[in-house]
Amino acid sequence: MVSVERLGAEHADELLRFERENRAYFARVIPDRGDEYFAEFAERHAALLAMQDAGTDHFHVLVDDGRIVGRVNLVDIKDGSAELGYRIAESAAGRGLATWAVREVVSTPYGLRQITARTTVDNVASQKVLARVGFTRTGEVELSGKPGYSYVLPIDPVDKLAHQGAASG
Ligand SMILES: CC(C)(COP(=O)(O)OP(=O)(O)OC[C@H]1O[C@@H](n2cnc3c(N)ncnc32)[C@H](O)[C@@H]1OP(=O)(O)O)[C@@H](O)C(=O)NCCC(=O)NCCS
Repeated sequence: MVSVERLGAEHADELLRFERENRAYFARVIPDRGDEYFAEFAERHAALLAMQDAGTDHFHVLVDDGRIVGRVNLVDIKDGSAELGYRIAESAAGRGLATWAVREVVSTPYGLRQITARTTVDNVASQKVLARVGFTRTGEVELSGKPGYSYVLPIDPVDKLAHQGAASG
């Protein structure tokens, strides 16, 4: 069974394996991370955890029987808004995992007002995920020189109130 876990120090080795194994697969649709990312992985992982502790980002990994099969992140949190990013291992693609995991993450009560996302015009799988989760297209953008779309998902304040009530009660 797959679970969504908040990124921790214990995920470092497995996350590196996931990124290495899927590097060429991801690079077919999104910009490659570059050799430096892999060379400086440990430092970068520590930096991500520090950002998470500071509250500017929420990082998540999808774990299936001890193996990381995907990640879903909320980054650049500012004024109640966060940007969504996600990637699923080639071996786990097409099973509805991205749709399920993105739904889980966007419904986590992080106190956000809205979540934004962007994807290239040719990334139909990603567009399907965003549409199914309830994102609406807001415009056209350029992503690393490629045409893309921007999206937004308003977060229902009722959820936040319910959470605050539960937390204080
Ligand atoms: C986009 C991505 C996250 C989707 O992950 P996933 O777990 O396979 O997604 P889901 O199974 O929830 O849904 C994907 C849908 O797109 C469809 N799909 C997949 N590839 C497709 C393609 N090339 N063209 C059209 N539809 C496609 C799937 O069939 C599925 O639709 P269906 O359920 O109606 O059959 C994954 O492909 C990925 O990690 N890609 C590389 C990184 C990336 O693009 N990240 C997003 C950046 S914005």
